[in-house]
Amino acid sequence: MKGHSSQQALLVLGGQWGDEGKGKVVDLLSAGFKAVVRYNGGHNAGHTVKFGDRHFALHLVPSGIIHAGSRCYMGAWMVVDPLALVAEIADLGEKGVDVNGRLTVSPRATLILPSHQALDLAREQARGASSIGTTGRGIGPAYQDLAQRRALRAGVLTEPDRLEADATALMESHNRELELLFGAAPVDIAQAMKSLRQAARVLSPLVGEIGPALNRHGERGEPILFEGAQGIMLDLYHGTYPYVTSSSCLPGAAAVSCGIPIATLGPALGVMKAYVTRVGGGPFPTEIEDEVGDRLRERGNEFGTTTGRPRRCGWFDAVAARYAVRVAGLAGVALMKLDVLDGLEEIRVAVGYKTANGRVLAEPPADARKLAEIEPVYTTLPGWGTTTRGITREKDLPPAARAYLEFFEDHLGVPIVLVSTGPRREETLIRGRSALAERLRHAVHTVQEAAATP
Ligand code: IMP
Repeated sequence: MKGHSSQQALLVLGGQWGDEGKGKVVDLLSAGFKAVVRYNGGHNAGHTVKFGDRHFALHLVPSGIIHAGSRCYMGAWMVVDPLALVAEIADLGEKGVDVNGRLTVSPRATLILPSHQALDLAREQARGASSIGTTGRGIGPAYQDLAQRRALRAGVLTEPDRLEADATALMESHNRELELLFGAAPVDIAQAMKSLRQAARVLSPLVGEIGPALNRHGERGEPILFEGAQGIMLDLYHGTYPYVTSSSCLPGAAAVSCGIPIATLGPALGVMKAYVTRVGGGPFPTEIEDEVGDRLRERGNEFGTTTGRPRRCGWFDAVAARYAVRVAGLAGVALMKLDVLDGLEEIRVAVGYKTANGRVLAEPPADARKLAEIEPVYTTLPGWGTTTRGITREKDLPPAARAYLEFFEDHLGVPIVLVSTGPRREETLIRGRSALAERLRHAVHTVQEAAATP
């Protein structure tokens, strides 16, 4: 891209199984970026952003929207439920945030119809014990229609006649599948079309190509933040297939989604928790099924933002984390929720995976069934008795917590540039002098200046 410098861009993505706390990181940084882009997934994602006394529940719209100076974009690899997007826009509007002129949805994004959601639920039920544990939002069936080349894309929202004909035909086909294959109730197409027509009226002014717009930001030297959803271990190709989401969560997906050269993306910052969590089914090698797991769940408030489901909790999995660093080329890690480990006598970290025949694997196997059979090899580190809550300088951390961070870096081979010591924005420590850490300091400084400006 002419004149576009990746120096200006940053990509933030989940380094584990989603829910790592990307919301806090993106929120912390986004006022420092002129453009904020979501590139994958749909309203299966979700986070709450607190701004002053207002709470925003965002599932689709990039969180930059709450900073008046940011332009927001939704990429082609997203799946967009028009009804959910309209509800989110209305909620933002009630809280004083107007998206008009500030939000652009790629005409190439796939639409989720009510019948996709019905199919998601019917298929999950039919899978019984081997269900994926999806969020039930219609994500998989919508991506399936995309791959089958029969999906409706957001561009159709600007053409009422085509929307009518194409959405009706697709929902009729889904209804046949629902009734004949699953014995499930069909979707009321007339009712669904009424809602879709209303949604199209709201959304059609927002539809526009995003590649050229991002190009213009680049040419003007305006920084762009790419915001990934879910996490590397939920990536369709490189995660714990089939217990994954249906899109790619990796940095390269941002280039595909936006239709821009990969060199424009900037460094990738992987967000990881100081332990691991997962919602839904599938192998989870370091899962803790005793009271320590319950304690992490309670202290870390590990309940899904989108579905409210309790999250499975486990010890930090350095094997999966190292793999994430490699496949995503992470330049650094933001380590979240360090304070949740406060008070534990000892902390375990998985450093290898042992197979049934005694081999120790350095990386997760491609096959989820093989992953389910491995035994983690743990290293045990001492815990710290004092609290880390709200600490913003590394030298104020208890020595055992500092040792924990150093252990991480040795194992991951990349710097931990940010440590979160509480849910609030200011409960954050930026660490070291790497280029990425300096980039974060600069963005956070811009945020603080913006907040201080009346
Ligand atoms: P789907 O994306 O709804 O099809 O769900 C597939 C798998 O990804 C399930 O295990 C979900 O729990 C998980 N998943 C999807 N989105 C998120 C997310 O934003 N955070 C955590 N897990 C997610």
